[in-house]
Amino acid sequence: MLNIKEGLQIVGLGHYTPKHVVTNDDLAKLVDTNDEWITTRTGIKRRHFMEEGETNRSLAKRAAEMAIADAGISVDEIGCLILATVHPDTMTPSVACMLQKELGIPEYTPCFDINAACSGFMYGVSIARGMLLQSDKPYALVIGSETLSKVMDMTDRSTCILFGDGAGAAIVKLSDDHAYYKVLGSRGNDQCLTIPNSGDKRYVSMNGGDVFKFAVSTVPRTVEELIEMSGHAAEEIDWYVCHQANKRIIENVAKRIGVSLDRFYMNLEEYGNTSSASIPIALSEMNQKGLLKEGMKIIAVGFGGGLTWGGAYLEF
Ligand code: ACO
Repeated sequence: MLNIKEGLQIVGLGHYTPKHVVTNDDLAKLVDTNDEWITTRTGIKRRHFMEEGETNRSLAKRAAEMAIADAGISVDEIGCLILATVHPDTMTPSVACMLQKELGIPEYTPCFDINAACSGFMYGVSIARGMLLQSDKPYALVIGSETLSKVMDMTDRSTCILFGDGAGAAIVKLSDDHAYYKVLGSRGNDQCLTIPNSGDKRYVSMNGGDVFKFAVSTVPRTVEELIEMSGHAAEEIDWYVCHQANKRIIENVAKRIGVSLDRFYMNLEEYGNTSSASIPIALSEMNQKGLLKEGMKIIAVGFGGGLTWGGAYLEF
C-alpha cells in the first residue's frame, strides 16, 4: 500500500561531534590569524576534528543511532537511508550502503549518498519525502555527515578556520498533520567553492567574499519564500535554523526579515561550519535542550557549494 500523506514530520533527531576540540588559539599556532579576527568575522570559537580511527561512517552511525532511539522505532521500519556529504570515506561504496549493514537496516532498502554541499540535508529531507511516497515502510533516515578536517589546507588561513567535523540525523515520516513546504535550487558555479577529487591539492578552496554575497542574497529570499508558502507571518515562526557558516550571514537574514536574532538558533561558536551536518546537528541539539515543542513552526535553510540552496518550512 502506498503512502498518500501530504506533509512531513520529524520524529527523531540525533547528532555526534568528535571529542577533539580545536580552538582559535590552536589555529593561531599554525597560520597567521588570531581569536579576535576569527570571532569578529565569523562568530566561530571552536570546531571539532576527527580523531584517529574515526570516519565519516563512524560519525554518521553515532548520529543515526541517537535519532533511531529518539524516534523509538525499529530499523525494520526504515524505508530509505539518505546520507548527504561532500566527503564520503570512499566514492563507492557509499557511506549510506555501509551504514545499512552496520545499523542492521534490512536489505531491499534503498540507501545512497547525495552531494548538495551545505544544502545536502535539506535536499535529503525532500528526497526522503518522495521516497516515502513510494514506500510501504513508514520512516526515512536522513543524515548529514562531514569530515572536512580531511580536506582542509591547514596552511590556508582563509579556509582552515571555518570548518569542522560532525554528523546529524533525523527520522522523518509522512504526515497529514504537519505541513511541509520546500525551496531547492542550484546554480552551476565552480569559482566560489570547490573540493577537487583529483590532483595533488584535494582541499577546500573558496572565494569567501563571493560566497558571502551569495548567502546574504539567497538565504533571506529563501526564508521569505517559505514564509509566504506557509501562510504565516515571519514573527509566527518559532525557530529559524540557518546553515551555521557565519554569524554575520545569520544576523543579516534576521535583519532583512525583521525578526529578533533570538529566534535564530546558533551553535557555530562551538562547531564551526560542518556543511551538510550543521542543520541536523542544530535541530538535534535544540531537541536535547527542550527548545522544540510539539506544533512549533520551523524554517531551516542551507546554502553552499554548487552553488546550492535548500530550505523547508516544517512543523515539529
Ligand atoms: N586571519 C586573519 N586575517 C585573515 C584571515 C584569518 N583567518 N583570513 C583572511 N584574512 C585577511 C585577508 O587576507 C584580508 O587581508 P588583506 O585585506 O590584507 O588582503 C583580510 O583578512 C580580509 O579578508 P576578507 O576575505 O575580505 O574577509 P571577510 O570579511 O570577507 O571574511 C570570510 C572572510 C570569513 C571567509 C567571509 O568572507 C565569509 O564568511 N564568507 C562566507 C564563507 C562561507 O560561508 N563558506 C561556506 C559555504 S558552505 C559550503 O558549501 C562548504
